[in-house]
Amino acid sequence: MWDPDSLSRVSDDVTPLNRPRGPFVEGDLVQLTDPKGRIRTITLKPGKTWHSHKGGIDHDSLIGQPEGIVVTTIGGISYLAQRPQLLDFVLSMPRGATVVYPKDAARIVSLADLEPGGRVLEAGAGSGALTCSLLRSVGVTGSVLSYERRDDFAEVARKNVATWFDAAPTQWELRVGDLQEAQIESGSFDAVVLDMLAPWECLDVASRALRPGGAFVVYVATATQLSRVGEALRASGEWTEPRAEESLVRTWHLEGLSVRPDHRMIAHTGFLIVSRRLAPGTVLPLRRTRPAKGAYGQDWEQASTESS
Ligand SMILES: C[S@@+](CC[C@H](N)C(=O)[O-])C[C@H]1O[C@@H](n2cnc3c(N)ncnc32)[C@H](O)[C@@H]1O
Repeated sequence: MWDPDSLSRVSDDVTPLNRPRGPFVEGDLVQLTDPKGRIRTITLKPGKTWHSHKGGIDHDSLIGQPEGIVVTTIGGISYLAQRPQLLDFVLSMPRGATVVYPKDAARIVSLADLEPGGRVLEAGAGSGALTCSLLRSVGVTGSVLSYERRDDFAEVARKNVATWFDAAPTQWELRVGDLQEAQIESGSFDAVVLDMLAPWECLDVASRALRPGGAFVVYVATATQLSRVGEALRASGEWTEPRAEESLVRTWHLEGLSVRPDHRMIAHTGFLIVSRRLAPGTVLPLRRTRPAKGAYGQDWEQASTESS
């Protein structure tokens, strides 16, 4: 059982979720990009110096300056100074568990149909990367409840989310515990998003948590997990027909006449499976398209012939 004392929610006040926009101030995260595109992230503190192998950069030379300036070390290396975007931050922040990549986080937000005021249940929180995208999408009037069963990962998530938003948002609740054992009010969420090894074990709690019509989005790393979730959703009868997808982002080399896909890419991160909660008692009309011959193997075909 989760321990109610481990909740990180501190007050019912709303935390603003937007990032600073004006000149750099003390406490800002600043990303320094060298001419080769290598990135270092620093937190601005008056009187402090960041040291490269070719001289340092005084934080005071950045404080009060606008984003997008170039600062040069005594050794002649120039760095572009900007605040990181969320997609930079999640790839550079400390990790406990593997993070959901920005391309998948963007797709999850869309498939879950998140909007300001939305109520989202998430597990596992892992390193908190996806949590940041979920919080942003539901805005100050929404809420995100995250479950993470490992104390150490929950701590990483709590720190990363607090770093990104300057403080742990009060519209976010992080519970250390197993989602399977969660005490959740029936129909109290608009979306449930899972990123874990065995999401099929959490279908009951997900269906209880979701309002009818609410979106269920699952991120998995392997095709075998994908298949197992899909079949478990069908078997339970409480969900719309599941849909599966993956997104591949291919970056391009863009220089003069040399305009072509980059030679390297991140070819695999994970798969997404999405479904929606049916109203209680609803039975879906039979699928018009029969499964492809052999899709389920002989055992399944024999069982379905015997039962019809
Ligand atoms: C791949 S990580 C999630 C990463 C996270 N989405 C991110 O973007 O940083 C999977 C996490 O799920 C947690 N987990 C697995 N099963 C769980 C369950 N039933 N309840 C709560 N957390 C679970 C694991 O401890 C692990 O930290």
